[in-house]
Amino acid sequence: MIAALFPDRTAEALLIHLSGQESEAAAHEKDCLAAIFGAKLGWHGCKDALGALLQGNKGTGLLAQIFTASADTRLRAVLFLAALVGVFLIVFGGGFAESTFLTAVGWFRDQPVPFSHQHHVGSLGIDCRYCHSGVETSDRATFPPTHTCMTCHSQIWTGAPILAPVRQSMLTGKPIEWNRVSAVPDYVYFNHSIHIDRGVPCVTCHGRIDQMPLTARAKPFQMQWCLDCHRDPAPHLRPPEQVTRMDWSDWERDPEAHKDYGALMVQAYGIEPAKLIQCNTCHR
Ligand code: HEC
Ligand code: HEC
Ligand code: HEC
Ligand code: HEC
Ligand code: HEC
Repeated sequence: MIAALFPDRTAEALLIHLSGQESEAAAHEKDCLAAIFGAKLGWHGCKDALGALLQGNKGTGLLAQIFTASADTRLRAVLFLAALVGVFLIVFGGGFAESTFLTAVGWFRDQPVPFSHQHHVGSLGIDCRYCHSGVETSDRATFPPTHTCMTCHSQIWTGAPILAPVRQSMLTGKPIEWNRVSAVPDYVYFNHSIHIDRGVPCVTCHGRIDQMPLTARAKPFQMQWCLDCHRDPAPHLRPPEQVTRMDWSDWERDPEAHKDYGALMVQAYGIEPAKLIQCNTCHR
């Protein structure tokens, strides 16, 4: 690689050349070269130092000769290629599909207002359906309209700068634009109401929302994840009137006591897992 970048010299020759000159600048350039061509390819660490050298024309002038504009471009090209190869290897070496980079599990997103479920659900105990009112009746859970926030925030924290976008939205009538953390692609059909009606709790798909200061994605939302449950939904079913309950540790501690519940409900609702995994259930 070095030969490709500097056909007429090698890093070694450069270092030898520099070791003949004991000035402070030469010592600095030596460090830079060692870092760049050393095991760690410390390009970024040294770039600033190089920039200073190149601009101020300090030092022995040797680095300035090497790092002409075209050599810099070549080095960038090689680094870019190396990065491409890396991405290629990750994609085709497996692992990529499961990586949190793709599934976004645990990822937060910047929001116009730092809304905290931990405060509003965990501490204040507001039910999910107060804000996500579509969840029982439609495919969308929906986001709360601004006046829902204002039922309380016209009384509390009225002047808080943190709530300025909420007041602004109330004035202009323009809804707050929340950044999505859990979404499936357009070609996937998903419906909240059927899941809620059958008693699949919010926590199964969205995690401990009541403990999130900022909302993060809890599950991968990939096809395999949907199919895993559709193949055998029984263990995931709960009494529908409790779907918004977050803590099911009592059920998990004593599985015997609830062993038959799911199986009975699968029968009662007439759920057919064979149909639930057919392509046109979710791709219509
Ligand atoms: C039922 C009343 C109620 C509703 C509805 C409500 N809030 Fe709050 N909110 C509160 C209270 C009470 C606090 C103060 C919490 C504290 O001080 O611990 C608060 C605090 C906040 C804060 C300050 C940061 C924090 O979490 O402590 C933000 C931001 C906020 N709310 C945004 C919103 C938004 C956006 C909505 C609408 C989607 C909303 N709230 C709806 C009662 C409410
Ligand atoms: C006071 C209103 C309020 C309550 C109560 C509330 N939420 Fe939310 N929720 C919001 C707001 C506002 C957002 C958008 C900002 C964000 O992502 O944090 C949101 C976002 C979400 C999201 C992210 C959706 C996406 O794709 O971006 C999920 C999931 C969610 N809420 C689930 C719940 C669940 C489950 C409960 C009950 C345990 C609940 N929420 C209770 C107001 C509320
Ligand atoms: C079976 C899994 C599952 C359950 C159970 C579930 N959700 Fe969702 N939720 C999803 C999926 C998938 C999306 C993304 C939908 C999309 O992009 O069209 C989503 C999106 C959301 C959103 C973003 C707005 C929207 O409607 O797309 C909110 C808010 C939300 N869910 C709240 C809830 C609440 C509250 C509950 C419980 C009452 C709940 N969810 C139960 C899977 C689930
Ligand atoms: C934890 C379990 C669980 C998960 C996860 C889950 N589902 Fe479901 N799903 C169910 C159950 C239970 C039903 C109800 C089946 C019935 O009543 O026939 C259902 C029904 C459906 C239906 C309606 C089928 C119909 O007959 O109309 C669709 C569409 C659907 N799910 C899509 C999805 C998609 C897409 C995902 C992933 C993003 C998903 N589900 C994740 C349990 C789950
Ligand atoms: C329970 C719901 C569900 C069923 C049933 C289902 N899919 Fe999917 N499918 C999804 C979801 C969700 C995604 C989006 C995955 C993502 O965003 O990573 C998806 C994505 C896809 C994609 C896009 C490529 C990919 O893997 O991301 C193809 C192709 C596909 N599905 C084909 C099928 C075929 C063929 C069947 C029937 C054998 C099927 N699906 C059954 C939920 C489903």
